[in-house]
Amino acid sequence: MTTPADGIPDQLRTDVFAANPQLRSYWYAVARATDVAPGPVGVAVLGERLVLWRGSRGAITAAPDRCPHRESPLSPGEVEDGCIVCPYHGWTYEEGGRCVRVPSSDPGTPVPSKAHLRTVHVTERYGLVWVCLGEPVAGIPEIPQDDDPSFRRINNPVEVWATSATRMTDNFVDITHFPWVHTGTFGRRQSTFVPKVELEDLDGFFFGYRYEVEVNNPDHASVTSGSTAKVLTRQMSSGFNLPFAVRSTVAYETGLEHIIFMLSTPIDDVTSYFTFVIWRNDDFSVSAEEVIQFDRAIGAEDKRMLERIPGVLPIENTGTVSAPADKASVEWRRRFGGLLKG
Ligand code: FES
Ligand SMILES: [Fe+2]
Repeated sequence: MTTPADGIPDQLRTDVFAANPQLRSYWYAVARATDVAPGPVGVAVLGERLVLWRGSRGAITAAPDRCPHRESPLSPGEVEDGCIVCPYHGWTYEEGGRCVRVPSSDPGTPVPSKAHLRTVHVTERYGLVWVCLGEPVAGIPEIPQDDDPSFRRINNPVEVWATSATRMTDNFVDITHFPWVHTGTFGRRQSTFVPKVELEDLDGFFFGYRYEVEVNNPDHASVTSGSTAKVLTRQMSSGFNLPFAVRSTVAYETGLEHIIFMLSTPIDDVTSYFTFVIWRNDDFSVSAEEVIQFDRAIGAEDKRMLERIPGVLPIENTGTVSAPADKASVEWRRRFGGLLKG
């Protein structure tokens, strides 16, 4: 089974931004809820390895992936009756992290208090498992369509990308790469010009811009767009929610709306989880799997491009050159730099 642990490097690099203490106060998506059934699943965020498992009452516990006894990772262990059992000497931890069994000791012997796991905040939302290493200063962004019965939600696997979450977020609010990177999907090399970008608070959760874009609609896109026209005009918006969440909205002339919530989670400075969640108000007649094929192909185009670029995106805007159409990504970077300074 592919789990979110696959692709995590042995050595985690956190010398540029991933170890910044400010980032510990935000929520990060690290797995699909269905990946932890019951686990254990090893993940990493901001350079720290965690183990996730689901207890007998259904709640997930997230804790450092290190057994306090002799430091074995817990994620190769097993979940038994809602408890995680360390694979080295069998010390056993219940939901919430309390050590409840030391197999080598007489059952009456008290468990040392230092044996309990120091858990971190974990919650489930939008079909994803989110963790926060510190005390949260902001909630998970609201997507009102999640409560709207005319929309359905489609989740995707969590992938590991060999690129920095800084480059991913910059890319996800950038529309000027569409005609260059997305030529295998919707990008039109004929439509490269971007009219003046006006940034605004889109709805209290995402800051960005609205725009109209002409896109190719090849045959394999018709399931997603709901149209067989060769070229379509989409009304779109793209906006970010610090530090690394991006939402794009797409509205077609047919009334079809397609929301794409793109999440980049730093595993370390230059390795990240990527997942996206779709909400759409179609007639639910096409299978979820078919609907998301096209978006997956778009994501693969971004991944291929970003994995060619080494290192972290310079945090200061002066480290790169920008054009007027890059206004949203310039603003994201300005605010992200401010967040890191605290
Ligand atoms: S290292 Fe986990 S039980 Fe010994
Ligand atoms: Fe892209």
